[in-house]
Amino acid sequence: MKFIKIISAYLIMLPLVSCQSTPGDASSNVDRNIETLLKEMTLEEKIGQMNQISPPEDLSQIVDLVKKGEIGSVLNLVDPEAINALQQIAMEETRMKIPLIVGRDVIHGFKTIFPIPLGQAASFNPELVKEGARVAAVEAASQGVRWTFAPMIDIARDPRWGRIAESLGEDTYLTSVLGVAMIDGFQGDNLNDPTSIAACPKHFVGYGAAESGKDYNSTFIPERTLRNVYLPPFKAAVDAGAATFMTSFNDNDGVPSTGNRFILDQVLRKEWGFTGFVVSDWASVSEMINHGFAKDGKEAAMKAINAGVDMDMVSGTYVAYVKELLNEKKITMQTIDDAVRNILRIKIKLGLFENPYVDISASSVLYAEEHLLKAKEAAVQSAILLKNDNEILPLNESIKTIAVVGPMADAPHDQLGTWIFDGDKNYTQTPLKALQAEYGDKVRILYAPGTAYSRDMRTEGIAAAVNAARNADVVLAFVGEESILSGEAHSLTNLDLQGAQNELIAAVAKTGKPVVTVVMAGRPLTIGRDAEVSEAVLYNFHPGTMGGPAIADLLFGKAVPSGKLPVTFPKVVGQIPMYHSHNNTGRPYQGNETMLQDIPLEAGQTSLGNTSFHLDAGFDPLYPFGYGLSYSTFSYTNLRISADKLKTTESLTVMTDITNTGKYDATEIAQLYVQDCFGSVTRPVKELKDFTRVPLKAGETKTVTFTLPMEKLAYYNLDMNYVVEAGEFKLWVGPNSQEGLKTAFVVE
Ligand code: NOJ
Repeated sequence: MKFIKIISAYLIMLPLVSCQSTPGDASSNVDRNIETLLKEMTLEEKIGQMNQISPPEDLSQIVDLVKKGEIGSVLNLVDPEAINALQQIAMEETRMKIPLIVGRDVIHGFKTIFPIPLGQAASFNPELVKEGARVAAVEAASQGVRWTFAPMIDIARDPRWGRIAESLGEDTYLTSVLGVAMIDGFQGDNLNDPTSIAACPKHFVGYGAAESGKDYNSTFIPERTLRNVYLPPFKAAVDAGAATFMTSFNDNDGVPSTGNRFILDQVLRKEWGFTGFVVSDWASVSEMINHGFAKDGKEAAMKAINAGVDMDMVSGTYVAYVKELLNEKKITMQTIDDAVRNILRIKIKLGLFENPYVDISASSVLYAEEHLLKAKEAAVQSAILLKNDNEILPLNESIKTIAVVGPMADAPHDQLGTWIFDGDKNYTQTPLKALQAEYGDKVRILYAPGTAYSRDMRTEGIAAAVNAARNADVVLAFVGEESILSGEAHSLTNLDLQGAQNELIAAVAKTGKPVVTVVMAGRPLTIGRDAEVSEAVLYNFHPGTMGGPAIADLLFGKAVPSGKLPVTFPKVVGQIPMYHSHNNTGRPYQGNETMLQDIPLEAGQTSLGNTSFHLDAGFDPLYPFGYGLSYSTFSYTNLRISADKLKTTESLTVMTDITNTGKYDATEIAQLYVQDCFGSVTRPVKELKDFTRVPLKAGETKTVTFTLPMEKLAYYNLDMNYVVEAGEFKLWVGPNSQEGLKTAFVVE
C-alpha cells in the first residue's frame, strides 16, 4: 500500500473533547460529549461522519478528504500502520478530531479461521461460538479493525442460497441464542476494551428468504412471519447491546430494506430502543435505483436517510446529495443530527477518542497457539455424523491401510470456507496432512484424489483412486464444495456433489471396501445416493484452519462427534424450502401415501383422501433439523413436567433422564420442542424452545432439567399482538426434531 508514513508516536491525548466517562455516569457523559461535538460540527463534517468509503490502493488520494472530516469510516483496510496513519490525520489534522471507525468482514475468524457460522451452529454451543468470536475480535483488533460486519443472523431455509453458509441455520431460537453469543464474543465485556470490536448484526431483514434462493432476490415475508420468524434474532441482538446494524439488499414486499422506515424506525428504534447506528449494505442506497424504488441517487439518499440509515457504505450518495436535500427540506437537520449522534455514540463507546491507534509494537496474536486449539475444538464440535453403519467409525487398530481419495482431502484454501478475507491457506491444516502427521506411523496412507477440485469433471484420476481403495482396508472419501461455491452471490440450483465426485464415490464403493464419506461444504448438499453407498458420512460445513486435525481426531476416535444439523437436509432440491417448524396443512401427510410408481395407470383424479407431499420425494427430508449421531448411543426416559396446567406468567420445569447406552464417553445435545396446538393463526408443527449439551460417560445417566417460562410461547397472533394464547401444547424432548419423548400441557 502506497502511503507516506507520517506516524511518530501514538500516545496522544484528545485535546478538544475528552470522552472519558466516569463510572456511574457513563451514558450521560457520552450524551454530553456527543452534544458538545455536534454543536461545533459543520454540515459537511456531519455528512462526513455518515460516509463510509472503501479506500483506494493509494491512500494518499483520500488524505485531503480525511483532513476535511469528510470520511467517518473506512472498510477493508487491514494494514495497521496505514490505519494508524489515517487515524492520526483524523485525530490531529481535522477540526473536530473525531476518530475513524474501521470495519471489516470478520465473519468466522480473522486470521485463525473457525468453521463457517453454519458449522459453528451445529455445535449448539453458545460458549464455543462466543469464544470463536472473541478470538476473531482479538486478532482483528490487533490490526486496527474495531468493527466487524457480523454476526449474520438471517434465517436461512434455502440451501440453494449461497449465503446459508454464513448463517446460523434455519431456526429462529438457535439463531437468536448463537447470534447473541457471537455479539458477546466480538464486543467483550466492554466495547471500550482495545480487544473489543463492535458487532453488526445483519442483514436487516429477511435477506435469507430470497425467492428461489437466488442472491439479492426479492422476498415476500408478511409482517406476522417477519415478527415471528425473522425479527427475533435481531431483537435479541439489540437486547445484547449490539453496537450497529446493517440493512439487507433485498426488497420485502416491494420495499428495499435500505429505504424501509417501518423496520428501521418503527421496529428497530421505537419498539426495540436501539441506540447504535445503522449502516447500509455495500451501495445498497444507490441500488434502490435498480430496484426501481428511487429514480436517482438523490432520491435514494433521501429515502435511506429518512428511513433511518445512518451511514452510507460506499455509494457516495450522502456526500453528493445531503446538502441539497436539506436545502430543499426533503430531509431535516434533526434527522442528520440523529444519525451523527448514533455514529458518535458508538465511536465514543469503543473508546476510539482515547485510544484511536493500534499498538503495532505489541507481539502478534495472529494464529496464536490457543487460537488454533480453539479453532480445532470448534471444528470438532461442528462435525455432524450422519451415518455410521456397522460402527465403521471410529477407525480401529484392525485398519492397517487407508485410501484417502477426493478433492477436499488436501484443499487448504477450500476448507476455510467463504468470507475469509484475511485467512491464509498456508496455515491451514488439511485432513491429509493431519492424518499423515498423526497416524502416518500407525497406518499406511494411500493418497489418490481422483479429481483435482470439486467441480472437476475429469474422470481419468478415478482409476488410481479405485486402485488405492482396492489396496486399503477402508476408503476415506473427502468430497464437498470449493469455498467459492457458497457465500455471497453463489447460489445454485443443483445441490448434488459437483463435478465427478458422485462417480468417484460410486467407483470406490464398488470395490466393496467400506467407504467413509467426509463432506466439507458451505451448505446442505443432496447427498442421498452418496450416503447410500457409504458406510459412514461425516458432514463438516467448511471447518476452517484446523479442520484437518479435528477430522483426523474424529475419524480415529480421539474425539467423538456431537454436532447436530442446524438446518434440514432435503433429499432433492424440489423439496426446498424445507424446515422443521413449518405449519400444518389442512391435509397433513400420513405416512401411507401412494408414491409415483405405485399409482395405477389411468387412475382417476379425486380430491378425497389426499395429503400434502411430493409424489416423487415423499414428505420427509434426507436428514431432519437437529439430527446427528455419536459413536455412542443415548436413551431418553422418564420425561416429566412440573405441571400440566399453567398460567401465562408461570414456568414449566421439564425433566428427562438421558443415559449413555454406548461404549464411548460422549456428548448428547438434548432438544426441547413445543407445539402450540391451536392458535388464532396456524402455528408451526414444532418449535425449538431450548437445548443443552449433556456430556455423559459411557453407561452414565443424567437428569436434564429445562425451565420453560410460558412467555417463551408468546408470538404475534391474529391481531398482531405479542401474546401467549391459552390452550393445549405438546412438548417433546429428544435427540432431533423428529424423535423424542412426548408430553402435553395446557396454558390457562
Ligand atoms: C456485502 C455483503 O452483503 C455484506 O454482508 C458485507 O458485510 C458487505 N458487503 C461489506 O463487505
